[in-house]
Amino acid sequence: MNKFYVTTPIYYPSGKFHIGTAYTTVLADSMKRLHLLKGEDAYMLTGTDEHGQKIEEKAKEQGKTPQEYVDGMAAYAKDLWAKMKIDYDDFIRTTDERHVKVVQKIFDRFMEQGDIYKGEYEGWYCVPCESYFTETQLVDGKCPDCGREVKLMKEEAYFFNMKKYADRLLKYYEEHPDFIKPEFRKNEMINNFIKPGLEDLCVTRTTFDWGIKVLKDPKHVIYVWVDALTNYLTALGYGSDDDSLFKKYWPADLQIVGKDIARFHLIYWPIFLMALDLPLPKTILVHNWVTMKDGKMSKSKGNVIYPDDLVEKYGLDSVRYFLLREMPVTQDAIFSPESFVERYNFDLCNDLSNLLNRTVSMVNKYFEGNVPSYNGTPNDVDKELEEFCVQQIDAFEKKMENYEIANALQEIWTLISRTNKYIDETMPWSLAKEDNKEKLESVMYHLIENLRKIAILIKPFMNDTADNILRQIGIKDKELKTGDSLKQYDGLKDIKVIEKGEPIFMRLNPEEEVEYIKNLMKK
Ligand code: MSP
Repeated sequence: MNKFYVTTPIYYPSGKFHIGTAYTTVLADSMKRLHLLKGEDAYMLTGTDEHGQKIEEKAKEQGKTPQEYVDGMAAYAKDLWAKMKIDYDDFIRTTDERHVKVVQKIFDRFMEQGDIYKGEYEGWYCVPCESYFTETQLVDGKCPDCGREVKLMKEEAYFFNMKKYADRLLKYYEEHPDFIKPEFRKNEMINNFIKPGLEDLCVTRTTFDWGIKVLKDPKHVIYVWVDALTNYLTALGYGSDDDSLFKKYWPADLQIVGKDIARFHLIYWPIFLMALDLPLPKTILVHNWVTMKDGKMSKSKGNVIYPDDLVEKYGLDSVRYFLLREMPVTQDAIFSPESFVERYNFDLCNDLSNLLNRTVSMVNKYFEGNVPSYNGTPNDVDKELEEFCVQQIDAFEKKMENYEIANALQEIWTLISRTNKYIDETMPWSLAKEDNKEKLESVMYHLIENLRKIAILIKPFMNDTADNILRQIGIKDKELKTGDSLKQYDGLKDIKVIEKGEPIFMRLNPEEEVEYIKNLMKK
């Protein structure tokens, strides 16, 4: 059986997770579900990144010990992911003993191999980003990642010899075109960081205490990124007494990260793996950001939206759909109350929900709920629909293979629109009046078949909605719910739709709901 190991970054528990942060995890969950649907052994990892100065400071602000603070935040994260039905297999916390011990071992090994050496560091440090920058990297004297103030700091520190691996990394990029998606991110790494000359990375700190200590020199705390990145290995038991999961799942098939942490995952992470003599992940997918009309989400701008607030009011699947559908490959997505309500009303209500409702009510009206069986010979209109369906499924698969998620969803919605148009073209109400039973049977059969396929296609992204559709159209047989059954057009027998289908999405009043969401943002 094929395996599929997918990871999200581990989250900084420095506050509530906004809608943008949920994107990575919703996407990873969808990818896991897609592979499960293909019958593969899919495994998903997420977790929390709990060390560092920022966390130490947050805990102090709240009058807690760092451990108390991160315990509360890890519980918050698990609760949020449960609300969003994130089907992870393991949740790693960097304060877990299983992680701490192995990070120390890895650090020791790097020292013994001569990859890590002792020196002195001076540079511009951004506390929130926990990153040092050189003078030239600063933008207007501020942090190039978050735009905040930086301070000049100097300390005795250990360094990782990145330069030693630069050529090997470039060669790896060249020989593995699937390693970085989308491709332009690779060029960014090469042109902005590797070609100008990779700096050795400072991998310890002495200015704070909340972190993993270097075993042989415990006044040094291991840099949070060395600690954090190795979670993808430690969670699988790498370097422990039981590394069976590691043997089974490593290398990762897909690691998903946001653009802000691309540099860490596309440069430092592969170099650490090379130094450990381990294979690299097959693909690292870098996605853009969810932003607001007026730029980045921030509490001070009063434009932050939290996923749980939206889920509570509009249901989980509309939020998952919006996030996945709105993120282009090369640009940021923009969240606005208007676009959320529009997607809800047009895509989910008008297109999907109506197709289901019209179909279920017609099968009830004309055939007492019994789906006619297939006569095996499609007429021209039906044949065109069948071919269109196959073509859309192919297009969907191609886009997914290339991780163009929003475009892949678009292909499903093109199929939904075409199926709605098929009702208008075939006019079942006229066929019933004319008593054209054979044609009417074929139309009903094709509508149910397309809805079944649409449900399977959306299942990884919107699991509950897909199950609801399959239930309403009477598909009970497991075999008819698999990815393998997608291209089959004549397998439905003895199917009965439910008597009265409830709408899966109800039209929203745009003015009222836009106002409601705006108020959520001000909250
Ligand atoms: N702790 C690090 C990751 C360490 S992985 C070894 C971290 N955590 S984070 O909580 O700040 O971010 C978690 C994820 O959310 C990252 O993939 C990040 O890129 C993503 N996003 C943060 N803001 C985002 C948006 N506005 N939009 C989309 N993704 C966003 O980084």
